Amino acid sequence: MTGKIHKAFVVYCSPAGTTHHVSQTITRALRAKKIEVIECDLSKKFSETAIITKINRIKNNACLFIGSPVYVSHAIPPVMDFIARLPVKPDMPAVPFVTWGGVTSGIALSEMGQALAAKKMKIVGGAKILARHAMMWQTEDPLGKDHPDESDDRIITEMVTGILKKLSKGTDGAIDLSDFQYHPADIAAEMAKSTLKKAKSHMPKRKIDEDACTECRECSAVCPTDAISFTPYPVFEVNCIFCFNCMRLCPEDAIKADFTKLEKRIRDRAHQLKETPGSQIFI
Ligand SMILES: Cc1cc2nc3c(=O)[nH]c(=O)nc-3n(C[C@H](O)[C@H](O)[C@H](O)COP(=O)(O)O)c2cc1C
Repeated sequence: MTGKIHKAFVVYCSPAGTTHHVSQTITRALRAKKIEVIECDLSKKFSETAIITKINRIKNNACLFIGSPVYVSHAIPPVMDFIARLPVKPDMPAVPFVTWGGVTSGIALSEMGQALAAKKMKIVGGAKILARHAMMWQTEDPLGKDHPDESDDRIITEMVTGILKKLSKGTDGAIDLSDFQYHPADIAAEMAKSTLKKAKSHMPKRKIDEDACTECRECSAVCPTDAISFTPYPVFEVNCIFCFNCMRLCPEDAIKADFTKLEKRIRDRAHQLKETPGSQIFI
């Protein structure tokens, strides 16, 4: 499956919009090079099976770009579940990318790379892009403020053109997966142990203001994992990934939670880890 690329799949999940931004930048860079792009937003469930069928059918000259936000040092479940559902595609070029909120990009890129490699795909690039922290929408000065910015967009475009160039030359183009293991081994091992499930106890508890809630169900419409049921007020189910879209986008401001403790914890962790660079491409 090496050689000039004619078609690309850009697949992502983006509860708060920054991974969507990166995906759009990738799509623009691909289209500028006359590549046909098929996009898939995994928070819109109906598109997932169709895209897997398309990837399954494609014979060659296609590349998969796949993006996830970093949650608790990992790629998020909708993205990892999507990769798990992919067919084995020997040598299909694949490019994982992540957005992270200034605490740590964790092991997300590495685990996505390994999961794609387990499908026999060839990892030809990757990126970690600094983005505003999705849990800090209520503060003036969120971690990752104003990112992704123009310089992030520039390196994302550089990544796409670099990948297309090396593939059109007919070179193998594979990168070394160990490039994604940029944390010291002990820190990476600690990150591997932390999970979204374990972090649940640190998440602010949401309370519904029943006087304010109009049962409009907008919270459910903006939930990327379809994790809200109604009694008649919203109830958060076990598949909730804590993106807090329900609270952030509630038109009545009827979902309340106190982020004070968590915000301090996040900022302390960012200070402790001091991960640099913010954005980085791998080609
Ligand atoms: C539940 C949750 C956990 C997060 N965990 C991390 C983390 O471990 N490291 C980090 O730097 N940012 C973390 N973030 C911030 C997101 O990675 C960042 O805001 C990302 O850009 C969000 O992508 P989106 O805008 O596409 O949803 C977390 C955000 C949420 C909501």
